[in-house]
Amino acid sequence: MAERPDIGSREDIIALLEDFYAKAFADDLLGPVFVDVAQMDLAAHLPRLADFWETTLLRSGGYRGNALEPHRALHAESPLTAEHFARWMELWSAALEARFAGPVADRAAVQADRIARAMRKRLEIADGSSPWSAAPDGRPELPLHTLPRDTA
Ligand code: HEM
Repeated sequence: MAERPDIGSREDIIALLEDFYAKAFADDLLGPVFVDVAQMDLAAHLPRLADFWETTLLRSGGYRGNALEPHRALHAESPLTAEHFARWMELWSAALEARFAGPVADRAAVQADRIARAMRKRLEIADGSSPWSAAPDGRPELPLHTLPRDTA
């Protein structure tokens, strides 16, 4: 296989975003969020998403916005879960690795993970390792006495 290039331009970012969102829209878990809940018009959103990633990765692009806000609205309408975020990260990494390799591509993976964690925290979505997030009815799988006192 030919050596993969690193991400170096807005065109690269757009190619990455097109790959990623094609997979995300078709995904059994994420697809309905984009298609049914948000009814996201990808063509209309792409320039803003490209601005965001260009600003994050290449220090150009001039994204001025609050990336948390639309997710807060989304979460209020139809709760995002740790599983949604895990799938998002999985598809993002796969899209990245299919096309690019290098320090900027690495940063795209690290930054996405960081942002996803921050978002989850702000939306108060516990990570999958918490016994509280494991049970759909909110009851922990572990017996109560194994939990830290402040959560029991
Ligand atoms: C559960 C995972 C996620 C889902 C289902 C999701 C879904 C969405 C949707 C539907 C929108 C469009 C909202 C609207 O304006 O109507 C959006 C916007 C956006 N998302 Fe996500 N997202 C997720 C995670 C992430 C993560 C981890 C990142 C960054 C690393 C991210 C970056 C963005 C950005 C930059 C925008 C555009 C914000 C703006 O318009 O200024 N998303 N997302």
